[in-house]
Amino acid sequence: MVKYVINTTAKKSKINKDIYGHFSEHLGRCIYEGLYVGEDSAIPNTNGMRNDVVKALKEIKIPVLRWPGGCFADEYHWMDGIGPKENRKRMINTHWGGVVEDNSFGTHEFMELCRQLECDAYINGNVGSGTVREMSEWVEYLTFEGVSPMAELRKENGHEESWDVEYFGVGNESWGCGGNMTPEYYGDQYRNYQTYVRDYKPGKRIKKIACGANVDDYEWTEGILKTCFRHSLPFQHGFMDGLSLHYYTHPEGWEIKGSATDFDEKVWYKTLNKTLYMETLINRHGAIMDKYDPEKNIAMIIDEWGTWFTCEPGTNPGFLYQQNTMRDALVAGINLNIFNKHSDRVRMANIAQMVNVLQAVILTEGEKMVLTPTYHVFNMYKHHQDATLLDSFIETKQIGLEEEYMVPNLNESVSIDEEGTVHITLSNLSLEESYTIDTTILDKKVTSLKGEILMNDMKAMNTFENPETVQVKEFTDMDITETGIQIRIPACSVVHIEVR
Ligand code: AHR
Repeated sequence: MVKYVINTTAKKSKINKDIYGHFSEHLGRCIYEGLYVGEDSAIPNTNGMRNDVVKALKEIKIPVLRWPGGCFADEYHWMDGIGPKENRKRMINTHWGGVVEDNSFGTHEFMELCRQLECDAYINGNVGSGTVREMSEWVEYLTFEGVSPMAELRKENGHEESWDVEYFGVGNESWGCGGNMTPEYYGDQYRNYQTYVRDYKPGKRIKKIACGANVDDYEWTEGILKTCFRHSLPFQHGFMDGLSLHYYTHPEGWEIKGSATDFDEKVWYKTLNKTLYMETLINRHGAIMDKYDPEKNIAMIIDEWGTWFTCEPGTNPGFLYQQNTMRDALVAGINLNIFNKHSDRVRMANIAQMVNVLQAVILTEGEKMVLTPTYHVFNMYKHHQDATLLDSFIETKQIGLEEEYMVPNLNESVSIDEEGTVHITLSNLSLEESYTIDTTILDKKVTSLKGEILMNDMKAMNTFENPETVQVKEFTDMDITETGIQIRIPACSVVHIEVR
């Protein structure tokens, strides 16, 4: 019997709802077709946004959405995407497939999407090929309420009121596609650009995010903090509210990546092992951040994460379209548990990418839409949003088929919401073994239990022909005990339990 202890008196950090954030880039069929079909489309839409997709996304409570990239952000010139659509510039999307970008989805459309989703906006500005003035004017266009050239332009373009922008990213992957900069050079650039990301709204600060490291580039983190860390003092804000981190799971490495759907048991464990590396990265980058910012004022923002497999055969390789299986569900469940457990430092994360790209929660084909296993995990985990992390410990053992890629058999996190309901999210990484878990819940008399489970074969997926193969089902294989609950979790599954 596995031992599991949850301490309801040991309340830890608040799980920022933005950990459940998403990312939408002008890449492949994410924006066009996936989210935006235009007002004249035969696909039912509201102001051009697909009704089916928006409805499904609202169900999982999208808290925040990042846009327009990604690598696209550092070649995006926002003024090309405003005004009458017929006058908007057409450009080449050099990073993603070399296709023509007609800019029909721009600032107004993105803010309209956020309005429909009822989520916050995270806009990523252009440092690589943009100017300080361009970035500054974008912020003015978006958020300035009074009389100014950019506010006038916005009004001319049909939007009288300013919008709220919660987060502003200053460049993306500036060590790579965003300009191939050194940390010192980017750090100086960051100091300059962020100065002109003005707060125009009294009492409302835009949270500024500096471009952080790729995977384990600890020198980048150190270099950025050395160059542009400044303490927040009364009447003097620090230069940054967040520092990003990008880490993708690709089982066979960056060059090969590996198939999204055709894999064996060894690759299953290897993938999960590589996903678990996220925790090492958070700890190590976090330790560097702690040296400068022990109060943890600066958030770690994992604004790109998820699986990145070889794209689906027969599709445009520049579009990064891939299917999504139970393996992706486990990857999502594990990552989200890790973020919850590190929510004292990790305060936003954005899975890449929302629709039709990489570890998407939704796939579309014409008017058809499929909810992926990853979608269902986000739906089960949404209860953690803004809840308080509880101290918890589960006994694990190492499992796997290769010495190098062993994983702990179980992975979990627990929170308590405002009503006092405890939410347990638990994954069984084993492909064979089910476990009986003796859960002690300290300082809580359990009166009722409600559970849901996502469970299937490791390669099970939802397709346009069979969209309902992987579904959330009611989970009842548990009992209230003297000291808590006994849970019997089947192999290859993700479970959410509500304890009252
Ligand atoms: O998500 C795809 C790409 O991955 C993004 O555009 C870029 O930031 C990262 O390299």
